Amino acid sequence: MGQELLSYCSLNIFSGYMCSKKFQYEDKDFQQVTQNFDYIFRDINNGHAMDFLPSLQPLFTSYINEIKSNVSSIRQYILDNICLEKYERLRQDPSDVEDLVDACFANLLTNNEEEKWDWQTILYIVEDLLGGSMAISNIVMRLFAHILQNPHVMDALRAEIDEKIGRERTPTLQDRHEMLYSQAVLYEVLRVTSSPLVPHVASEDSSVGGYAVKKGSIMFLNNFEMNSSPSLWDEPNKFMPERFLKDGCIKKPEYFIPFSTGKRSCVGSKMVANTAFIVVTTLLQRYNIAMADQATPHLPQAKISLDWNPFQLVFTPRERRGSWAGTTIIITTTTTAIQERVPAFRPPTVREPTRRHSDFPADATQTALPRAASASGQPRSPSFTLCPAAHRPPLSLLTLSEAPHRPRL
Ligand code: HEM
Repeated sequence: MGQELLSYCSLNIFSGYMCSKKFQYEDKDFQQVTQNFDYIFRDINNGHAMDFLPSLQPLFTSYINEIKSNVSSIRQYILDNICLEKYERLRQDPSDVEDLVDACFANLLTNNEEEKWDWQTILYIVEDLLGGSMAISNIVMRLFAHILQNPHVMDALRAEIDEKIGRERTPTLQDRHEMLYSQAVLYEVLRVTSSPLVPHVASEDSSVGGYAVKKGSIMFLNNFEMNSSPSLWDEPNKFMPERFLKDGCIKKPEYFIPFSTGKRSCVGSKMVANTAFIVVTTLLQRYNIAMADQATPHLPQAKISLDWNPFQLVFTPRERRGSWAGTTIIITTTTTAIQERVPAFRPPTVREPTRRHSDFPADATQTALPRAASASGQPRSPSFTLCPAAHRPPLSLLTLSEAPHRPRL
């Protein structure tokens, strides 16, 4: 198995959760959009000199055009396969809200001029959030590579799965709370992959650690240094999940903030923890995993993304036990089954409609580099203590963890 299968699975989990829609792995357009998402994800992870010196952009015209064409394809796919259909349904009945994307369109169709979102905002949200699924496939591939290089970690992980879940029952999200070693393994993978560059801008004169910071200064939160400094971690170059365990509890140092902190911290952190948990435990419960060849995989540091399909994994069913024993289990079936484990997002109550829009939005088909890609060009709006007010869309969608009726992920 390569990364593409995990990417299809992750994108389907996200799409099922946020858009109540899943796609067939064999669907060529779905395969293409997954690759496009991964391409953009890799671009954002990599960073370029022109991100800091925009005057260099003319030297990279063809690369920028490639990104634009990729983003256009993603936009077209999202419109054709998700958004236009949903918009039409909501136009008939704006109270018929099934999921997060419906809630966005209900906002557009029913809110007054000042409060409602426009098409561009909604499409950016859908693209940003669905694109986040690539973080899952990349981090899970990394996790497998690390545990294959550290067989004692693989053994301990599997021992925990066998003890807490067994071989018959399929893992659920509730199991995660009991499975501290599994949590520690994911933290350790996050520790060794954190990006050094999360740019912010100081919105007012301030100070950090005694250093004066002038309004408008660009600040970088160097997570990579915080996660690998020998002054903060014992043997930082070793893969040691146990460092996150103490006296039978998870121990997370306060300087371990892979998802950043404050108002603008990552909205996907819970999706990462929970989706990665389900994918990893289900696969390890059912399969023995090995590298397809003996070569040590290249795991670039200080970013999550890997090259597309960087190595192949071989999955063989574990020894016979339980109801599915003896059957040839095709890995695709398992990843499809994993998808079913994550319920659809149910948004909080949506306000009654006050008015309808019948005109089809002209700007819906226009494309632009996604907001996330501007992480490369423009510093992001500030967060942590330097920023009293971050710009956020008004609805509670971006604070997924706070939405009251959301199923616990
Ligand atoms: C291993 C996976 C991930 C890591 C390590 C990660 C890390 C981060 C970090 C460090 C930030 C910047 C916070 C700041 O500016 O201070 C961020 C922001 C963000 N992440 Fe993630 N992320 C991951 C996965 C995801 C996923 C799966 C999604 C989508 C569901 C997502 C959506 C976002 C969004 C929308 C923001 C911008 C938040 C804002 O500006 O208010 N991330 N992430």
